[in-house]
Amino acid sequence: MGSALPPVPVTNDELVAALDTSDEWIRSRTGIRQRYFAPDSMATSDLAAGAGAKALKSEGGRPVDTVVVATTTPDRTCPATAPTVAGKLGLGHVAAYDVAAVCSGFVYALATAAGLIACGASDGVLVIGAETFSRILNPADRSTAVIFGDGAGALVLRPGTEGEAGALGPFDLGSDGEGLELITVPAGGSERRPHAPREEDHYFTMQGKQVFRLAVQRMSGSARAVLDRAGWRVSDVDHLVSHQANHRITARLADELGIPQERCAGNIAEVGNTAAASIPLALDHAHAEGTLRPGARLLLTAFGGGLTWGATVLTWPALDRD
Ligand code: ACO
Repeated sequence: MGSALPPVPVTNDELVAALDTSDEWIRSRTGIRQRYFAPDSMATSDLAAGAGAKALKSEGGRPVDTVVVATTTPDRTCPATAPTVAGKLGLGHVAAYDVAAVCSGFVYALATAAGLIACGASDGVLVIGAETFSRILNPADRSTAVIFGDGAGALVLRPGTEGEAGALGPFDLGSDGEGLELITVPAGGSERRPHAPREEDHYFTMQGKQVFRLAVQRMSGSARAVLDRAGWRVSDVDHLVSHQANHRITARLADELGIPQERCAGNIAEVGNTAAASIPLALDHAHAEGTLRPGARLLLTAFGGGLTWGATVLTWPALDRD
């Protein structure tokens, strides 16, 4: 595993200067104390390559043949960001593609990577969740500008045997296109041309209240479905690692599932909501802190724009720590 963050954190107090908000509101309503915003010179591929390099190094530099990047904020509309990341990492002519499922992106990316390995198309996949979400935030919108942050997390998947530590899956994935308008950047794609006249159409918008309710509903439903498929009981779960949208969502989700709060892993207080990067950042943080013992059973679940959602389970492998 590995992760990367921009160099300097942005505290709540720094945002208060430009927005009608307060450190108290942000902390109590979201659990966030700070987040990181990438400088203009740093693109999503730079954060992705930073996290990817650490993940590869942690595994002794063994070659991978595929790079999958989950992101909402690619370097460019065309091409995908993954080939750039592979180039920056000097990985040669590997397969490389992006997965776009907003905050569920990392779970979707894991599913595609696991599928490539299962069908024999790959012997090693570098899976990365990476975002420069600050690039699409409306600096005048206090309901989103205080929540999101930039960062990247990565891990390497290899073929293995069912039941061994590190084993991943099954998966549950879903979507509901009826919820398109709840989480969206309206312009910049084929529907509204990039030079659409309204500046605000190029910014991220979210209907927070509705999304809150749906996030709990969909993540808990997906988590239950995957536990069922895996043959695990809720009491088998040592750590719940959910998409870190808001600490109140995580708390509500844990309650809904009947998982004690102390079994929830996460670092939203330090990094904010980093969309597709949030699950690998939470995993790498918990790993670095030594919270995840080999053989621990993890339940991952995510929800995001699309709407999309997904869940998977894994047993934590024995990994070296820096
Ligand atoms: N500072 C102060 N007040 C604020 C702020 C702020 N930063 N933001 C909103 N408020 C105000 C609102 O204007 C509103 O005021 P009003 O009552 O006078 O109208 C009041 O606070 C309450 O607003 P709500 O939107 O009801 O606040 P809520 O408690 O729901 O928190 C939040 C808002 C944090 C956005 C929450 O709804 C949330 O976390 N939603 C879900 C986010 C999520 O799950 N995202 C996952 C997917 S994201 C993706 O896919 C990229």
